[in-house]
Order: sequence, then structure tokens, then C-alpha cells
Amino acid sequence: MKVLAINGSPHEQGCTYTAIRLVADELEKQGIETEIVQVGKLPVRSCIGCRACKEGKRCVFDDIVNECIDKSKDADGILLGSPVYYSGIAGSMKCFLDRFFYAGPYLHYKVGAAVVSARRAGTVETFQQLNNYFNLRNIVIAPSHYWNEVHGSNAEDVMKDEEGVQIMRTLGRNMAWLLKMMEYGKNAVPLPEQEEVIHTNFIR
Ligand SMILES: Cc1cc2nc3c(=O)[nH]c(=O)nc-3n(C[C@H](O)[C@H](O)[C@H](O)COP(=O)(O)O)c2cc1C
Repeated sequence: MKVLAINGSPHEQGCTYTAIRLVADELEKQGIETEIVQVGKLPVRSCIGCRACKEGKRCVFDDIVNECIDKSKDADGILLGSPVYYSGIAGSMKCFLDRFFYAGPYLHYKVGAAVVSARRAGTVETFQQLNNYFNLRNIVIAPSHYWNEVHGSNAEDVMKDEEGVQIMRTLGRNMAWLLKMMEYGKNAVPLPEQEEVIHTNFIR
């Protein structure tokens, strides 16, 4: 099994990476491979709402977003990580996620989890924002024993945040457990019936 991890930080070995790594270590202990893609340093275009992707085409900006949509095809789970910027998702990551979740991905009824890193505040808002992407794509969210946050300005700080480190370990184990449950259960329990989606724009 495989988890695609997206690091929304510009820092390759920073706090968000450390949080993702802690989760990935637990996954790997259970034989689940993790591929970490760093998008936080890239100049990712924002979604322009052209809807070409809704007509069966790939995103018109053929970049890391399309690459990750392709990677999501054979992933069993997705792990999103973002540093907190002004109490929200960091800019490049937000642009990435808007396009990634609008144009793809192939993750329905797979497992998702989000982690955030902040020096001090805005973690819960950012965590909620990341989870919003899972909720409207039928992605099953793995839990931990607290909101998935670590604190610090660099990787060393994060490793001193004992509670944050433990939250990540728990998340990794829970994600592995859920991935295995879904893999072993998929032949025994069929996916729920799918209805054609209704869009009403709140007017009628
Ligand atoms: C532009 C910018 C905005 C930030 N906004 C916040 C914030 O709202 N709250 C906070 O606690 N930390 C904030 N920080 C600090 C980072 O979220 C924090 O240091 C984080 O752990 C860095 O993660 P990284 O090493 O993965 O980049 C901000 C940093 C930057 C560069």
C-alpha cells in the first residue's frame, strides 16, 4: 500500500516535513510506503475556474498538480501537511489544493489525513481548512487523539514538542490501521450506493 504525502511548506526539512516524517515512519513500520512531494516552494498557479477539468481534460496548467493527480491513481491514502500562514493554509499549498481537488484526485473512499505546523496560533483553523478538501471528495479521514498539530520554527523545535510528536505517531498508526481495514474489508463490504450529484446553488 502507498500514501502520497504533500508538503505545503517551502522548507524541505522544516517543521511540516518533520510532522509528515513522523507519520510516515509509523506507516512504513507497517509496510506502507510513503512518497513525499514538496509543493510549498513552487510557484503554483491558482485555479482560474475555467472548468476545462470538468470536461474531462487535465488541468490547463500542466504542472505539479497534474503530476500529483496521476500519482493519486495508485495511492491508497493521502497525507496533507501545511505550515500555518496567517491562521490559514500557506499560499502555494492553497493554490495546489484548489486545483488538485477540483481537477481530481482519484481518492474516493481512500484514506486522508492532514497535519499542520505553527509557531503558536492558527492551527485549528488551518487543520479544518485542510480537512474541508477531504469532506467533499468522499475521503475517509484518519483520526488521532488530538488535532494534528505540531509547534515550532524549525525541525528541532518540533521534536521538542513531545505532545505534537505523539499526536503524529498516533495518527500514523491510526492511518495504517484504517488503510488495512479498508483493504481487507473491501471485498466483504461493498462501497455505498452512489447517486448522481445535485448542484442547486442555494436557489432552487
Ligand atoms: C508568512 C508566514 C506567516 C505565518 N503565520 C503564522 C501564524 O499565523 N501563526 C503561527 O503560529 N505561525 C505562523 N508562522 C510561522 C510558521 O507557521 C511556523 O514557523 C511553521 O512551523 C513553519 O513550518 P515549516 O518549517 O514547515 O515551514 C508564519 C510564517 C510565515 C513565513
